[in-house]
Parts: sequence; C-alpha cells; structure tokens
Amino acid sequence: MSGPDLRRAAAARALELVEPGMRLGLGTGSTAAAFVDLLGARVRDGLDVVGVPTSEATRRQAQGLGIRLATLDELPHLDLTIDGADEVDNNLRLIKGGGAALLREKIVACASHRMVVIADASKHVATLGAFPLPIEVNLFGLTATQQAVEEAIAAAGCRGPVDLRLGPDGHPVKTDGGHVILDAKLGRIPDPERLGTALWSVPGVVEHGLFLGIATAAILAADVGGQAEVTILGRLA
Ligand code: 5RP
Repeated sequence: MSGPDLRRAAAARALELVEPGMRLGLGTGSTAAAFVDLLGARVRDGLDVVGVPTSEATRRQAQGLGIRLATLDELPHLDLTIDGADEVDNNLRLIKGGGAALLREKIVACASHRMVVIADASKHVATLGAFPLPIEVNLFGLTATQQAVEEAIAAAGCRGPVDLRLGPDGHPVKTDGGHVILDAKLGRIPDPERLGTALWSVPGVVEHGLFLGIATAAILAADVGGQAEVTILGRLA
C-alpha cells in the first residue's frame, strides 16, 4: 500500500471518533488533510460539527469542503483534535512542525479534551529525534536566539546542527504567525522533557515541536500483506 493509502486508513479510523455536534481541532499536513477530506464528505451528507483549523492551509481546505469553522477565541474548549505527527514514541510523545504549523497545532491540541494523532506506522519510533526538531522563533535577534538555542540543546544533553529552515525559493520559511523555524538535527533526544524545558528558557523561542503529555492516542496504519492494519497507542475514548 502507498503512503497516501495508509494515511487515509488512519484518517478513516479517526473519523469514527467524530460525533454530531462535536467541536473539532483540525490538524495540518498531508495526513490531517486526508482526515479533513473525509470529514468534508460526512458534512456534505449532513453531519453537523464545527472545526477550528490549525493553519491557514487547513482553513482554506475545510472552507472549500463546506465544513463550519470557528476561531479558538469563539470556541476555547474543543472536544477532539485530529492531527498528524512527524514522530511518535511509545509514551505518545511527539515531534511536530514539519509543516511549520507547530504553534497553532499545540495551542489547539492543548485546548482539546482529546488529541488523537493519525500517521502511517513509519512515524512510530523508539526514541524521538531522527526527524529534525522544529523550533519556532521570533525574527528579532535571530542570530543571538539561534546561539542560545544551541547552548540549550547542549545543556539538555543533545548535540547536532541547528539550521534555519529555507523554502524552495531559498528564503526563510515563515509560519502563519510570521515567525521562522530552526530545525535541530539531533539524531536522538534521550530526554525530551529536559530538552523542552531548556528550549522554553530561551527568549525568542516562540514554541518548540516537542508535544509532551498532550496526545491521548495515536492511530498508526501499517501495510501488512497489502492491507492497511491499524494499531492504536493510548486510549481513543
Ligand atoms: C505540521 C505537522 C504535521 O502534522 C506533520 O509534519 C506530519 O505531516 P504529514 O502528515 O504530512 O506527514 O506537524 O506542522
């Protein structure tokens, strides 16, 4: 099965969690987009839900599908957020932000009673860190912030280069909030909580892509003999 098939299988399982009247956080990325597509089809068939998107891209997609939307200010408490991840470990700790939406994704997930991750099983890792850790920073004083981030990373027992994320045009990628992203290529993160705390101590860091104690479950789809087999980490209910 292809990656898109697996992402769709995970998204379809997540759709079973959606009930009429729910307030939903809508994630960002290709797996979350598969979920929004399926949700749009259910809405077309009469399902009444309201969504809070985690990015402008998701807002445009959901709007195009006729999904009723609200802002987090209008709906500060959500029932369920469905979002993708770049990595997930056995303790439901995540790396997110490959799509540069980590700040809004974390705010929305933390405002939700439940956050369920959907992903193909290749995102399931024993130790976080093979995927570069995205760190969203304010543009002001970028060089000083980058150096302080490097020091915080070393103090947390990790090592590896920290690079400003550039887009295909060679310019720094800007987030929906107008910030930039530093990608920390650490290989492995032995103590994610320690690293998260160290990064938050750096002025100029707006948010980091470690989601710790936020996800309540993960739906992981793997290709087993040409069929999508879904594994659940955590509790869906
Ligand atoms: C965006 C994210 C995405 O959820 C993450 O990058 C996974 O994306 P995809 O489903 O395309 O693999 O964190 O900021």
